[in-house]
Order: sequence, then C-alpha cells, then structure tokens
Amino acid sequence: MLFNLTDEQLMIQSMVREFSRKVVAPTASERDKTKEFPKKNLKQMGELGLMGMMIPPEYGGEGADTISYVLALSEIAYSCASTAVVMSVQNSIVCESILKYGSEAQKEEFLIPLASGKMIGAFALTEPDAGSDPVSQTTTAVKDGDEYIINGTKRFITSGKNSGAVIVTAKTDESAGHRGISAFLVSKKTPGLVVGHMEDKMGLRASDTTDLIFENCRIPETAILGKEGDGFKIAMSGLDGGRIGIAAQSLGVAQAAFDAAVKYSRTRKQFGCAISKHQGIRWQIADMATQIEAARQLMLSAAAMKDRKEKYTVQASMAKLFASEMVNQITSRAIQMHGGYGFTKDYDVERYYRDARVFTIYEGTSEIQRIVISNNVLKDKRKP
Ligand code: CAA
Repeated sequence: MLFNLTDEQLMIQSMVREFSRKVVAPTASERDKTKEFPKKNLKQMGELGLMGMMIPPEYGGEGADTISYVLALSEIAYSCASTAVVMSVQNSIVCESILKYGSEAQKEEFLIPLASGKMIGAFALTEPDAGSDPVSQTTTAVKDGDEYIINGTKRFITSGKNSGAVIVTAKTDESAGHRGISAFLVSKKTPGLVVGHMEDKMGLRASDTTDLIFENCRIPETAILGKEGDGFKIAMSGLDGGRIGIAAQSLGVAQAAFDAAVKYSRTRKQFGCAISKHQGIRWQIADMATQIEAARQLMLSAAAMKDRKEKYTVQASMAKLFASEMVNQITSRAIQMHGGYGFTKDYDVERYYRDARVFTIYEGTSEIQRIVISNNVLKDKRKP
C-alpha cells in the first residue's frame, strides 16, 4: 500500500516536528537526569491540540485522523520518549475509550479537560500479579446502593502521580472470567485512591510510573464506563489503538538514533577516513534505514485501517511487535557505531537505548503480540 500523505497530515507533521525539535528536545536529556515530569511541554502540547488529537472538537479535541496522530507522536518521541508516552496513553487509551464508551456526563466532566490537555489521564489495568494476563486481576468493585466500592492495587501506571483522572478496571463478578471485569472512570481526588510507590526506571525517566492503591474507594455508579462486564473489551480495544502508538514511539526513537549514528559516522575518522566510508558501517546504515521504513509502513497501514473503521487488532499487534523489536536493534547498533562514546551520557544514543527497552514490554509484550497474530493466522486459540 502506498501512502500519499495529505496536505493536512504533512502540515501537522511539520508543525509538530518544529515544535518538538525547538521546544521538547533541548531539555530532554536534563529531564532524563532529573526525572522532572514534562508539565510545561505537555501544557503547550495541549494548546497545540496534541493531547486529544482524534477527539472531535465538541469534546475539546482536534478531530484529526489516526495517521496524523501517529506522525505527530513519532515527532515527539524523536525528541523525548518520556513526553511521548504520556501523549500516547492520553490520546490512544484514555481519550478514545471515554469517547467510545463514556456517558455524556463523563465526556463533559473528563473528556473535555483531557482532550484539551488541561488534565492528564491514566489507564490502570496491570496489577502486581496480573500483567500479560489481565483476567487474573484481583481488584474488586462491589456494588453498594448507588455506589461501587473499589479495593485493590494497580501497578506500573503511566502518569499515576500526575494524572487527574484514571480509567481503572476491577472485577464486578469474580466468577465470570473476562466478562466479570468492568471499567470505571475515577477522579484522582476521590477519597480512598492513593498514589503508591513510584518506580525508578531504566528509561522513560521523566514519565512517572506508579502504583495506584484503592482502599474502600467509593465512587458513584455513574462512574462506570460502558456497562458492567465491558471492562475487558474496553481495555483490549483501547490497547489496539495504544499499540499503534507504541509503534509510533518506537519509530520516533529509532529515527533519532539512526540520524545520530549517520551524523557521527560522517565525522568520526578511523583508519584515515570517515567511518561512513567503511563498508561495514555502510551496510549497517542500509539495514537500519530499511528496518525503519518497514516499521513506518506497518504503523501507517494499521493507522489507515483504523481510520477506515476496519478491524485492525492484528495489524496493530504486527506494527507494535515489529517496530518495538526494530528500535531495540537500531538503538543498540547506534551505540555500537559510536564506539566507547556511545556508552557515555555525553551522547543521546545512550538515552535512546534505555528508553527503547520498554517498548517490547508495555501495552502487551512481544510475546503477547505473537499470541494475537498467531491466533489470527491459525484461526484457533492457543492452549492456556
Ligand atoms: N477488542 C475488543 N474486544 C476484544 C479484543 C479487542 N482487541 N480482543 C479480545 N476481545 C474480546 C473477545 O472478543 C472476547 O470477548 P467475548 O468472549 O465476549 O467474545 C474477550 O475479549 C476475550 O478474548 P480472548 O479470549 O481472545 O482473550 P484471551 O484471554 O485469549 O487473550 C490477550 C487476550 C491478547 C492475551 C490479552 O489478555 C492481552 O492483550 N494481554 C496483554 C495485556 C496488556 O497488553 N497489558 C498492558 C498493560 S497496559 C500498559 O502497559 C499501559 C501503560 O501505562 C503504558
């Protein structure tokens, strides 16, 4: 499939590229050291319409298509992967799930501030003992009159600390498997919801990743997203979009590492010439460029299917699998091409390598993506 980007998509890409390189990039390395949440950048991104890109304007968004969104997200990831993951969770999982499943009152109260970037959102599915297998989660939501009482601990929650609202999944019927899971949209100010341990991570250090602890947390019954039992479906369809977003993050970081490696290879001299003149380096550059282009096409293809309202679950998994594995190879090669310098904090490739490592893990590991893809190819399901 050949992608002829529209004038509007090209305009969004170039606007975000300029913003990202001028505003986001200069402070990215410092943020990586200090772990400072990119509040100011995110506020500006909200003003530019980047925090609810695919949400219609009446709910505070931009009404853009998915292709424009992934192009924009890649541009932000090019400069700062920590900032990009916040944008990704906000746009793909949080805003889109509320748009699809939320009531008018929920859209009014939460979607408008989220999509306009005035509030940050989080998505809480994972638990200490339930990662790849979210059906085994143990958080419960028990009906009590016209309220639910939520109890449980969620783990590895992106923007757990800095968010104003969270989509949380919990069991409303413990005997019904995935059909017993429901999703709720909860204000972070709700008594009984506390931010727990903050992870000290290898990469994405300026994005906060925390536990969220629900202790007899009472929420009105109107806080449910969709209806009882919809939670697993809401999480899975949110993750479909999220996985295209991880492909976009992967692409952005890969392109940054590649550009840095090419630039370095032109200036670094060994054996009397620039190392870019050596065949070993040239072949690596050729392979890296090809891998990046392949990932770009998979990402755009999944995004185009989503825009055409086709079922795109498998293409999202393929894009996420290929792009996240690709960026780990590219960032590793970029360090290798920098030699000893690449192993120091003086060069951005060291940060790219650490940031990229989680892309094959979060929003479904590479192994989970292979389950989704092979189930589709074989038209039957793996044995548990
Ligand atoms: N969209 C909508 N519904 C879906 C769906 C999708 N993509 N995939 C499955 N479903 C529905 C199915 O239709 C089925 O519903 P019915 O029974 O009503 O027909 C139900 O869900 C169960 O489907 P499966 O039997 O296929 O599910 P499964 O249990 O065999 O496998 C899985 C599911 C793919 C392994 C899934 O558990 C999975 O994706 N696991 C990984 C979880 C994950 O990605 N976690 C990431 C955490 S979030 C995160 O990282 C966010 C962050 O902060 C960055």
